[in-house]
Amino acid sequence: GDRITVAELAERAGLEASEIIKKLFLLGTVVTINQEIDFDTAALVLSDFGIEAERETRVDVTEFEAYEDEDAPEDLVPRPPVVTVMGHVDHGKTTLLDAIRQTRVAAQEAGGITQHIGAYQVEIGDRKITFLDTPGHEAFTAMRARGAKVTDVVVLVVAADDGVMPQTVEAIDHAKAAGVPIIVAINKIDKPDARPERVKQELTEYGLIPEEWGGDTVFVPVSALKRQGIDELLEMILLVAELRELKANPNRRARGVVLEARLDRGRGPVATLLVQNGTLRQGDALVAGTMFGRVRTMTDDRGRPLKEAPPSTPVEVTGLEGVPEAGDAFMVFEEEEARAIAKARAERRRERELARTRIDLENVFDRLQ
Ligand code: GTP
Ligand code: MG
Repeated sequence: GDRITVAELAERAGLEASEIIKKLFLLGTVVTINQEIDFDTAALVLSDFGIEAERETRVDVTEFEAYEDEDAPEDLVPRPPVVTVMGHVDHGKTTLLDAIRQTRVAAQEAGGITQHIGAYQVEIGDRKITFLDTPGHEAFTAMRARGAKVTDVVVLVVAADDGVMPQTVEAIDHAKAAGVPIIVAINKIDKPDARPERVKQELTEYGLIPEEWGGDTVFVPVSALKRQGIDELLEMILLVAELRELKANPNRRARGVVLEARLDRGRGPVATLLVQNGTLRQGDALVAGTMFGRVRTMTDDRGRPLKEAPPSTPVEVTGLEGVPEAGDAFMVFEEEEARAIAKARAERRRERELARTRIDLENVFDRLQ
């Protein structure tokens, strides 16, 4: 913690070490020149010399925050909302995004189940929305939590023929924990056994009350399959997002989060990044988690090459020296700095893991005794 040797204290305060030792002796403490004393003791000694001690605020150079400059208000411009689509397995999240993007991703998924976070950007007139698709299968809680954390708005998809299910509730919890507004898309209203009113009724139990019942949650009935209600949903998303006045500074080094990453046999580490602030450019040196990298290729969600990615853009990049972990933050630096920071972060992570292992082992021994 906050300790300093007598020698160091003397040096910094411009005093003789012997003067400090003498003073401490008079205060009833016997120390040697290389001994450490705590902050309060040092402050007491210094005050006797008429010097005010100041606690050093130590900056952890392995944290990105240490390099973060706060943006001046005049540098901030509106950015597209990041919208995460969540809900129970098979309730139609991917199909809904297909309807929005006019693609057919759901039909190509293995077993019809989403197993990763898909990130897309769509243009609506002159506005953009970034969408993150999340898996509904119960195994993917961590991915949903990550999705909720980076998002500005959650679209909760509930199938009208199935109603509120366990992962519906989980999604609500994630959104609430992240403090993010929820828009409910009641899906599959084309089905003969669809009961949208029941969905509304069930969701009141979780504090999601429709406007017509005196609440403030927006509900939009849709059929992702028949592509009905999509325009209304998009309109509502833009409306809710607008209230949040989302802004970022495109004229600074990029910073954001790793949505997912994997090792591709031909291309090496491939990462899907969400740029949250600044502009990411091809050739930028960066640190993602504990990995150094230089953006070699950068593509949008349709595989088109991009030279730059402003705030709220999801991109796929290659050029990292290793595979970062999903959920890791990334930040752009000068190359040399990036290498040094990546190394320091890797060391820190190793230390933390070691510490954790040690604690685990101690627990094992405790239990054995
Ligand atoms: P996970 O990602 O695995 O959680 O599933 P998901 O929520 O993405 O569901 P997905 O979009 O894969 O759809 C599941 C099934 O529901 C598919 O067979 C879709 O064709 C069907 N489906 C989705 N939306 C609708 C809809 O509006 N109406 C009808 N009738 N079927 C739909
Ligand atoms: Mg899906």
